Amino acid sequence: MTAAIRIESVWKTYNPGSPRQVDALRDVTLEIEEGTIVALGGPSGSGKSTALSLIGLLTRPSKGKVFLGTKEVSGLSEVFRTRIRRDTIGFIFQAQYLIPQLTSTENVALPLLCTDISQSEAESLARERLISVGMDHRLDFRAAELSGGELQRVSIARALMNNPRILIADEPSSSIDEALTKDLLSTLRRMVKEEGLTVVVASHDPMVLKWADIRHLLHDGQVVDTIKEQQ
Ligand SMILES: Nc1ncnc2c1ncn2[C@@H]1O[C@H](COP(=O)(O)OP(=O)(O)OP(=O)(O)O)[C@@H](O)[C@H]1O
Ligand SMILES: [Mg+2]
Repeated sequence: MTAAIRIESVWKTYNPGSPRQVDALRDVTLEIEEGTIVALGGPSGSGKSTALSLIGLLTRPSKGKVFLGTKEVSGLSEVFRTRIRRDTIGFIFQAQYLIPQLTSTENVALPLLCTDISQSEAESLARERLISVGMDHRLDFRAAELSGGELQRVSIARALMNNPRILIADEPSSSIDEALTKDLLSTLRRMVKEEGLTVVVASHDPMVLKWADIRHLLHDGQVVDTIKEQQ
């Protein structure tokens, strides 16, 4: 199996040298296989979101290296990192980031509007994506008219619009109930099976942690336990 992501001896220090210095990650090494679902668990402040932002190329390590596939990406220029992020990675933003006045289709088509794809083509691709996450009955509803779980599915559809190889989700179940969480997790599991997507999720939710193929538990910036789920 190929490693989709490898973080190697990574440290992330916020506000170095100031009284507010925090070592959010301390010498973390993690390897994430392609086509798997990996969850990061652990208490608040343990470094989960920091690890996601390193993997998503939103920030750079203070020390250590990040690889996507065989390519070391932590030392590349911002221009290359932005390109790799755009072509390879999808983020599930919290539902609030959808634009309330736009329809599901328009929200999902947004990431394609600054490419050379026409608006009608972008919207037709957006509709296909929405249908694939079970939103065929709400294509023309405005985001303001959708339920929490429906908003989550629109967010997933939008995160998948650039056909990412890696999907990053921070606390994806935080604003939805248990039934909708089950729904969301089975949608994501299907994407992993059908499209070979690699999913990295940070969560406190025991249901999300149990659903993952592998759980890494963080504590105070370090991985203290790794549990492989028997599927
Ligand atoms: N931009 C920042 N500047 C300074 N400190 C930060 C910054 N982001 C995070 N931290 C600190 O780094 C530590 C780890 O934060 P992080 O957000 O990674 O934790 P987390 O495990 O995601 O927590 P939660 O479960 O509450 O979301 C925390 O102590 C936090 O205060
Ligand atoms: Mg967090």
